Amino acid sequence: MSRLSLTYLRKLKANGEKMSCLTAYDASFAYLIDAAGVEIILVGDSLGMVIQGHDSTLPVTMEHIIYHSQLVHRSTHKSVLMVDMPFMSYATPEQALHNAARLMQEGHAQIVKLEGGAWLAETVQLLTERGIPVCAHLGLTPQSVHQLGGYRVQGRSEASAERLRQDALTLQAAGASALLFECVPSVLAAEITRAVEVPVIGIGAGVDCDGQVLVLYDMLGISHGKRPSFSKDFLAESGSVPAAITAFHEAVKQSRFPAAEHSFS
Ligand code: KIV
Repeated sequence: MSRLSLTYLRKLKANGEKMSCLTAYDASFAYLIDAAGVEIILVGDSLGMVIQGHDSTLPVTMEHIIYHSQLVHRSTHKSVLMVDMPFMSYATPEQALHNAARLMQEGHAQIVKLEGGAWLAETVQLLTERGIPVCAHLGLTPQSVHQLGGYRVQGRSEASAERLRQDALTLQAAGASALLFECVPSVLAAEITRAVEVPVIGIGAGVDCDGQVLVLYDMLGISHGKRPSFSKDFLAESGSVPAAITAFHEAVKQSRFPAAEHSFS
């Protein structure tokens, strides 16, 4: 079976069909996610927290993410493989090109994800021109947690909402293939989702994004920290890991997740 592609994700958006995404870091969980029909698997740098036990994603290195991406790739056949670029691996456009190429060649990424706003436009353009699809992560960008002063909802003031709108449009114009909004008021995320042509995946960004992503360990209720309010324990009501993954996928496809209680105003 051949893997889904960006073209397929664009088609879903054009048809108004939702897409689901879960993080994975190893072959066994990734196999279950792939088998459930989840469209995108993200090898997220959240592995620094849920796998390595750190209190942020900052200690994750290129070597770590490539290793986990290889594990995920080995057991999956259908889901699009998106891989995070770790903290400081894209500080300059040249560094980003070098490291994104490694994620594709060694980690088998189909899309690389990086965190930041309009300042990344040159980098996104360079990667895109070289054939590397990019997803730009906006809103709450966990790699900037110290600068943001904590894990807080972004885009609540008119000035920061306007910055998000402009960042999204600038990065789309630079060639970004997808956007990801984390912890953004639902109304703002819905407005930007309608305004851009590329798929928008949300986490804590309301039900009107084109797709939804959760950290696997949060949605199974097995993270060692506190589960974020925008996540939901699907295992509690499903009884098994495969059933929980399927329940998440179906809830996203039918716009039943996220509910208002998992969203921000
Ligand atoms: O690293 C990660 O898991 C992520 C998600 C929170 C979107 O970036």
